[in-house]
Amino acid sequence: MRGRLPNANPYHHNFLVGVGSVSNLATKPSAEIREDDRIGFTELMGYLAGGVTVEEAEFLRQLAAQVQSGCIVEIGSFRGKSAIALAMGVRQQDRMRQPAIYCVEPHRPFTGFYGGEFGPKDRGVFYQEMCRTGAFNEVALVNLPSDVAASSWREPVGLCFIDGDHRYAGVKQDFECWDPHVLPGGLVAFDDAIDPECGPHRLIDEILRTQRYRRIAGVGKVVVLKKSHVMTEPPRQLPTRRQHLLIACHDLVLTGGLLRFERMGTILRNWGHEVALVAMGDTVAPEFASKVAIMSLP
Ligand SMILES: C[S@@+](CC[C@H](N)C(=O)[O-])C[C@H]1O[C@@H](n2cnc3c(N)ncnc32)[C@H](O)[C@@H]1O
Repeated sequence: MRGRLPNANPYHHNFLVGVGSVSNLATKPSAEIREDDRIGFTELMGYLAGGVTVEEAEFLRQLAAQVQSGCIVEIGSFRGKSAIALAMGVRQQDRMRQPAIYCVEPHRPFTGFYGGEFGPKDRGVFYQEMCRTGAFNEVALVNLPSDVAASSWREPVGLCFIDGDHRYAGVKQDFECWDPHVLPGGLVAFDDAIDPECGPHRLIDEILRTQRYRRIAGVGKVVVLKKSHVMTEPPRQLPTRRQHLLIACHDLVLTGGLLRFERMGTILRNWGHEVALVAMGDTVAPEFASKVAIMSLP
């Protein structure tokens, strides 16, 4: 499988030329496309060189258009094709609510799983394509390897598109680095996820077995997983030092918040924090044997 020419690859990679080529695109007087211009998008994606097909690019665009909270992170951007698709997606959102898109891509010499050669020259084309399409308005390049960027990352992630090193060890590292930053209910999309010989396919099987994510969609070789809303470990943004928390509530009856506060208190206690509830109103359910300390004001 390794070392095949891109055109012989049944999983479709288009790194050398698009339907046209990058230089063809340069002769087009305007590659700037309008937000509502479906034909322009399809044509643009046909011209751009990159790792996703037109259908997969359209799928990424739809995913980006639906991100409600958190930013979008792409691991492995090459010359910007999939990032431009993501940018066209966030443009469909209200301007004030558009999520930021970060492309984590070192542009260092790298040989891909299928034999594609990547390196600094791709950085130049990435910049050109960002300018040509106007996607620089939405996309910021983080010109670092994925693990280096993840180690100091602070922004919660609503959509993470993993398209870097497709060897099992590489994609596993990418997932493990970025998973803690993905919001509960957030999405992780993988490219090259349907080839059983390629890393993402095996990794996805393992992730699904943990039941922390479920598969929600797939187009072509792109598969999307959704993270559970149930959090089993503290998010990175919370203090890891032990906290003493006093939660004030109005009433604490079984159907009026106590069960929910009890669940939250149990999670916080499992993370090592001390939690107590204090009822400010008159109503407390005295018969409930809570694992969390409950106090009421006299
Ligand atoms: C399959 S290409 C990405 C294709 C791109 N998403 C597109 O649609 O055109 C893989 C990219 O991953 C990048 N890469 C390799 N190792 C990486 C790492 N540790 N972190 C981030 N990107 C990496 C390579 O430089 C290469 O550009």
